[in-house]
Amino acid sequence: MARLLLGVTGGIAAYKSILFVRLATKAGHQVRVVQTETSQRFVAPETFRAITGAPVLTDEFEPDPMRGAFPGDPQPTHAAISHLALVENADAYVIAPATANAIAGLATGRADSLVASAYLAADCPVLVAPAMNHRMWHHPATLRNVARLREDGAIVVDPGSGALASKGEHGDGRVAEPEELLAAVEAVLSGTAPSAAVPTGPLELGPGGASPSEGSLAPGTPQDLAGLHVLVSAGGTREPIDAVRFVGNRSSGRMGYAVAARAAARGARVTVVAANVGLPDPAGCTVVPVATAEELRAACAEAFGSTDVLVMAAAVADFRPVDPEAGKIKKQGRTGMTIELEATVDVLLELSARRRPGQTLVGFAAEHGDQAVAHAREKLTRKGLDAVVVNDVSQPGIAFDATDNAVTIVTAGGDRAVARAAKERIADAILDDVLVSRGG
Ligand code: CTP
Repeated sequence: MARLLLGVTGGIAAYKSILFVRLATKAGHQVRVVQTETSQRFVAPETFRAITGAPVLTDEFEPDPMRGAFPGDPQPTHAAISHLALVENADAYVIAPATANAIAGLATGRADSLVASAYLAADCPVLVAPAMNHRMWHHPATLRNVARLREDGAIVVDPGSGALASKGEHGDGRVAEPEELLAAVEAVLSGTAPSAAVPTGPLELGPGGASPSEGSLAPGTPQDLAGLHVLVSAGGTREPIDAVRFVGNRSSGRMGYAVAARAAARGARVTVVAANVGLPDPAGCTVVPVATAEELRAACAEAFGSTDVLVMAAAVADFRPVDPEAGKIKKQGRTGMTIELEATVDVLLELSARRRPGQTLVGFAAEHGDQAVAHAREKLTRKGLDAVVVNDVSQPGIAFDATDNAVTIVTAGGDRAVARAAKERIADAILDDVLVSRGG
């Protein structure tokens, strides 16, 4: 059983922290609570005091009647400095809910509340559970701040997706459920968090392994991509024939979204250029929606300058109708129809031509049959890439619109087959190879 210090900041999700404290105390943990002033507009300190059996502190200068002790522990005879004594005695410091404002403060090291100064003074594991509106969660400022917290060693327990506090709004930003949060804390304390959640080594990949939910952040995930900007293209482009019809393909965006979610979970700043993807946004990523190859080209070109790693998972149309109709083509009077197509720009090739040292470029190839790897190797050289991820689209049950995939990663150093597994695991294998090719 552990001593848990809970920091509560000012959002509507503060009520869930009451449930967290109940669960934690029922499980036998000793809990103390520190609150920001704003959080007391949502939950009164008396509520936490009643459940924990200990006073709640808000102000750094407020004397702690328990002198930094946790319930059930002997109290020291000298008066303690609250923000130092409480975290010194805690086995873990959990900040939940953490508002966008609180996260910004923590990321910059501001010590403007007891919650914040306890964070700076903590040398125990710190878990941060963000809670906010989805637009705030996806704002580049928040993404930067969250990435900074991870770099600084905090374990960010990603918010979930669903109905948000503002009426009618859905999306990412709901604070992790109390049960999940407690499980995350206990996993960190027992040292089982990293490997139990998502194996990151490619050699551990195998069929039938458990898949983390898309975009979930396993507590303790190694932050080996911290400081990198990863640009991922995902989905499939649609090239208009007329106002209602298009030339498209079967790509769902699952593979690209899995790469984006895993890169974010591993600490990267992630931009996703998403072509017609009907999935929830991957957590912690900036998503730029596009429709056509030309729009995808423009969005990628804009983000590429600051990109360290490009993973081009989108199925970009190779051809598009030369002269799309502005209205809807009527069938009346026609017995057939020919649509003239023209080649689109190869976006990956174009970006590769302007790459600068230090950028890593990964392409995908949908290949059919025996010559898959040989074709991919040719693509690797022709497009000047660091890796090509080959999907053998002749295999049933993988690749297009499936949750699993099996790939071969072709690099200058050789080929590596990654056995069938959830796309998140394949994503981790690709990102591992990216790190290897960057020499890390
Ligand atoms: N790609 C691109 N722009 C295009 C077409 C493809 O950026 N207009 C990218 C894809 O995102 C992918 C890689 O290039 O990363 C695929 O290369 P490509 O040569 O198109 O391979 P295949 O789609 O497998 O097609 P082919 O059968 O022509 O080899």
